[in-house]
Amino acid sequence: MSVRNICCIGAGYVGGPSCSVIAYKCPDITVSVVDLSQQRIDQWNSDNLPIFEPGLDEIVKSVRGKNLFFSTDIDKSIQEADLIFICVNTPTKSYGLGKGRAADLKYIESAARMIANVSCVSKIVVEKSTVPVKAAESISNILRANHKPGVKYQILSNPEFLAEGTAVTDLINPDRVLIGGEQTPEGLVAIKALSDVYHRWVPEENIVTMNTWSSELSKLAANAFLAQRISSINAMSAVCEATGADVSEVAHAIGKDSRIGNKFLKASVASIFVGFGGSCFQKDVLNLVYLCECLNLPEVAAYWQQVININDFQRRRFANRIIECLFNTVTNKKIAIFGFAFKKDTGDTRESAAIYVASYLIEEGAQIRIYDPKVDRAQIFSELTHPAVCNNPDRVEELVTICDDPYRAAEETHAVVVCTEWDEFVTYDYKRLYENMLKPAFLFDGRVILNHQSLMDIGFHVETIGKRLARNNVNRPIAATN
Ligand code: UDX
Ligand code: ADP
Repeated sequence: MSVRNICCIGAGYVGGPSCSVIAYKCPDITVSVVDLSQQRIDQWNSDNLPIFEPGLDEIVKSVRGKNLFFSTDIDKSIQEADLIFICVNTPTKSYGLGKGRAADLKYIESAARMIANVSCVSKIVVEKSTVPVKAAESISNILRANHKPGVKYQILSNPEFLAEGTAVTDLINPDRVLIGGEQTPEGLVAIKALSDVYHRWVPEENIVTMNTWSSELSKLAANAFLAQRISSINAMSAVCEATGADVSEVAHAIGKDSRIGNKFLKASVASIFVGFGGSCFQKDVLNLVYLCECLNLPEVAAYWQQVININDFQRRRFANRIIECLFNTVTNKKIAIFGFAFKKDTGDTRESAAIYVASYLIEEGAQIRIYDPKVDRAQIFSELTHPAVCNNPDRVEELVTICDDPYRAAEETHAVVVCTEWDEFVTYDYKRLYENMLKPAFLFDGRVILNHQSLMDIGFHVETIGKRLARNNVNRPIAATN
């Protein structure tokens, strides 16, 4: 069987980029990306794509209207497709059984019901969204219970491993493509059909096939291992601060061991220690914890829960440090936050460490000025007034100002807090920033990206994560360094 027409349900961070790259690499396949949100589809059809990803604009422009289409006509796209990707959101449940931990599968279920309602011929249905193990079975049950006469479905699991900010390169050169399916003759035919799509640009040895449950669990396991690695280095950063060791040096030393490797410890140049954010790590680890509890494996659940606990500890530790340094009170003090995205090169703010740092400071009555090169005011306010972090939205309106210029944001402030590792933050004129701040001027480098010695030479009181800095120049005026 050969795939000629693909429908992707969900035009978000996963569906949009992954199906744009499939269309780009497979000119003979028609790809329709559909969504319930008219606004999102209009943005995909405009010059201002709804998500920022380096290289994505060019890819979309080169194939949109040729073999890549964005539309809200979901029924028509489903009917025309031989293969359907389900790329809808699977957030952590905010209500009922499993609240705060289990993945909410209502969007997956509604997509499966849409497929069953309108499909008149057999199709391959592929879950690409990250789901708990056995979600494919639920999709299959819904489809098989509602199918039209003669219509058969094969359900595959094809989890997406792209990281935001590098989505296009990750999709074009994936470490592996994972495809899980039923180990029956029909299941193997479906696996082969999807493998052939990827095989147009991914070498055969990088396309890994397996049973559905292994594939579903592999995605959760990969994210859990990555998150665990960050929590491990973050836990070490606390030990470093208490002992005088430097976590960048420790990361460098352990990363030289080829069995450990240096990735995701970001040794030497740019280390990232304010805690992990993003839509995946926390959600997927919580999901794994819930799964283990349901499987009556409390020790395993507690093990993975600790990865989340250390992340919360790291965020709290960083926010506490800010308050302690500012003489134990930030009430009415002006503080600039540089960066609101959960990491550089993306406009995504889901679970960003900046939300927690800002909320904590707002609770303490600080006046916050936020600057981020890619995140707009509406997005920042929607995060800061979300009921999960805020019980007084008026207070957020009163205390938070969004700035479109970093120098303006830092003017007359007591402190600048770096929450995202945007490259441009490294290149700023810190003398100019310092001159316009109140003294002593504090700089909290939550991403360990700045040159601390030169900032201290300017006169800043610098605080970072994972090492103690020598303090013989606190409050030294700028003139003294010249
Ligand atoms: C992650 C996985 O990398 C990807 O494979 C999966 O498909 C989705 O989840 P993403 O969340 O987009 O991707 O970004 P990633 O680069 O993994 O970063 C996640 C968080 O970890 C960010 O907040 C980042 O700042 C943080 N991080 C990353 C660290 O704190 N330290 C590091 O060394 C690396
Ligand atoms: P992800 O990061 O997993 O891609 P996003 O929230 O960015 O998540 O995108 C998911 C998209 O799926 C949203 O644009 C949402 O409107 C869309 N969506 C959710 N349910 C359905 C559905 N039943 N049919 C079509 N689109 C849907």
